[in-house]
Amino acid sequence: MKKIVVLTGAGMSAESGIRTFRDSNGLWEEHDVMEVASIEGWHKNPGLILRFYNERRKQMYSCEPNKGHMLLAGLENDYDVEIITQNVDNLHERAGSSKVLHLHGELTKARSSINPSLVYLLGDQEIKIGDKCEKGSQLRPCIVWFGEEVPAINEAIKIVESAEILCIIGTSLNVYPAAGLLHYAPSGCPIYLIDPNPPSGISRKIEVIAKGAGEGVAELIKRVKHK
Ligand code: APR
Repeated sequence: MKKIVVLTGAGMSAESGIRTFRDSNGLWEEHDVMEVASIEGWHKNPGLILRFYNERRKQMYSCEPNKGHMLLAGLENDYDVEIITQNVDNLHERAGSSKVLHLHGELTKARSSINPSLVYLLGDQEIKIGDKCEKGSQLRPCIVWFGEEVPAINEAIKIVESAEILCIIGTSLNVYPAAGLLHYAPSGCPIYLIDPNPPSGISRKIEVIAKGAGEGVAELIKRVKHK
């Protein structure tokens, strides 16, 4: 089976009702990213951060995978599909995708604030001040914040290097190292980009599908069938 690697961002979940970050009315219009999504913010006001992620976790469970998520999961019948997502929601998994790598963490998990390898399944539970890991430290969201390393980036690079087709869906390509992954695609690998408002200035040859994720993935499937 041909190997399709899919790199998704917040736009992938927009049609499920989950806000993106940098569109108008995006999450970063309402919150100071350094207060709610940085390690400095955690040290300054952990309660605010716990509330921010508890709200996003609750909202995630009120949303459903959209047509784009479902079509990507169905693609596994005909292709070897690996998804690398910047998203922290579990919509790819709930749609049935079996290989999903979260670059920026997962809302469904908590982790120790002193040992990142101590990870705990949260499901739809909240994290509160006073919730401790087995070593007695405060639990925190299992999210990669600004100012922190992206532990899965080398694994992600290897996956992109093995792609026979690469598809980028719903990311403004603003945040590195995730935004640099496309440059690891092999030279002959066709690259598609699905986004109603596609980011510009990409130096690789890219086939743009200027549609939302649902219609865009349907179009992608038509185009790759003839590749
Ligand atoms: N379908 C596809 N793409 C869409 C849709 C849609 N229905 N609606 C919006 N988009 C596109 C926007 O045009 C934009 O290019 O999704 C992209 C969203 O960009 P961002 O809001 O910047 O989200 P993302 O690129 O995922 O942000 C990367 O930044 O804040 C950090 O850690 C956070 O993972 C996040 C990272």
